[in-house]
Amino acid sequence: MTPILIKAGQEEYEAFVGSRLLERAGELIAQKLNGTGCSIVSDENVAAHYAEKVNRSLTNNGFRPTLITIPPGEKSKSLTEAERICQRMSEAGLDRKSFVVALGGGVVGDLAGFVAAIYHRGIPWVQMPTTLLAQVDSSIGGKTAVNTKNGKNLIGAWHHPTLIISDTDTIETQPARERRQGFAEILKHAVIRDAEMFEMLQNVEQQDLASLIRRNISIKASFVAADERDEKGERALLNFGHTVGHAIERAGGLHDLLHGEAISLGMVAACEISVRKAGLAEQERDRIVKSLHSFGLPTRMPPDFAREKILEAIRFDKKFRNQAVRFVVTPAIGSARIATDVTMDDIAAAIKAL
Ligand SMILES: NC(=O)c1ccc[n+]([C@@H]2O[C@H](COP(=O)([O-])OP(=O)(O)OC[C@H]3O[C@@H](n4cnc5c(N)ncnc54)[C@H](O)[C@@H]3O)[C@@H](O)[C@H]2O)c1
Ligand SMILES: [Zn+2]
Repeated sequence: MTPILIKAGQEEYEAFVGSRLLERAGELIAQKLNGTGCSIVSDENVAAHYAEKVNRSLTNNGFRPTLITIPPGEKSKSLTEAERICQRMSEAGLDRKSFVVALGGGVVGDLAGFVAAIYHRGIPWVQMPTTLLAQVDSSIGGKTAVNTKNGKNLIGAWHHPTLIISDTDTIETQPARERRQGFAEILKHAVIRDAEMFEMLQNVEQQDLASLIRRNISIKASFVAADERDEKGERALLNFGHTVGHAIERAGGLHDLLHGEAISLGMVAACEISVRKAGLAEQERDRIVKSLHSFGLPTRMPPDFAREKILEAIRFDKKFRNQAVRFVVTPAIGSARIATDVTMDDIAAAIKAL
């Protein structure tokens, strides 16, 4: 199996994608890392399914793993949890030659990656993403973080993994609603970069998941290679749908929409704005909305949602502090650019139409 090469600044690492890879984890890691001590960080749900398999594979290849589990959910992405993991690693005698294995979704990836970035001033880590979102998005690009009470991902570090092992069989045990949100990011990739993949996705039933995941890793990796530290505006294009989407998440209150669901709505709004400001054909907008819908993602706001709160949340967005609204638009399916002429009124109108 040919891995995908990911280039980021000075660093290069590989992503293996396919079936039955967790049982080969030890063998794949042995080709890259020489330390023997390691921690497997996972959440309770994922550990129940896969920790034993990974543990066995590592042990069979001469590694000495310590399993550390966290409660599932976004709440675990905290400094407290990071400290607890570091503590457990110290108690297990893991030194700076050791490494971390992140076995789980984006929550485990962000948290365990952050621990790897700070433990003994930085040790290597291996990502084993087990959700569709983590396989196509969060495992690539080296962003690690925990949340604080003031906001998401406010404390973090850049720390690329040494290796990514994406076992596509793990997606089968992922709850359906969680899996659907991965398709929001996949459709995002299609809209901003890959018109051909957008066409392929019209056939919802006939998806070869492994090749779809590989294609999406390559797309995300291309943005990362062009703009590793998110400074040049290229990586910012990945925020398509996220300005309004994040605001919907923050305004959510009782309607607890998943990230991908909020992003789906955010993309509908971004398409509306793209029609007004970037010349997106109405017909293309309709096709995008229809695709989101066909993957079971929401394209209309719940009727009783407090829409005014969304706009309020956008005004607080860190990206808008200097007043200039930088908004990602798509002029045509398969392309994206940053527009600087999108006004709050445009955004308000798009939210009203949702
Ligand atoms: N670092 C980045 O670049 C980046 C990018 C996008 C998102 N993120 C982060 O990713 C996080 C969201 O990730 P997520 O959607 O994967 O959520 P998650 O990690 O919370 O996983 C979702 C749920 O599915 C369960 N689960 C995971 N894999 C499973 C499996 N194979 N079988 C059964 N259950 C399984 C988990 O226990 C959890 O309850 C957010 O914190 C977000 O900030 C990071
Ligand atoms: Zn997202």
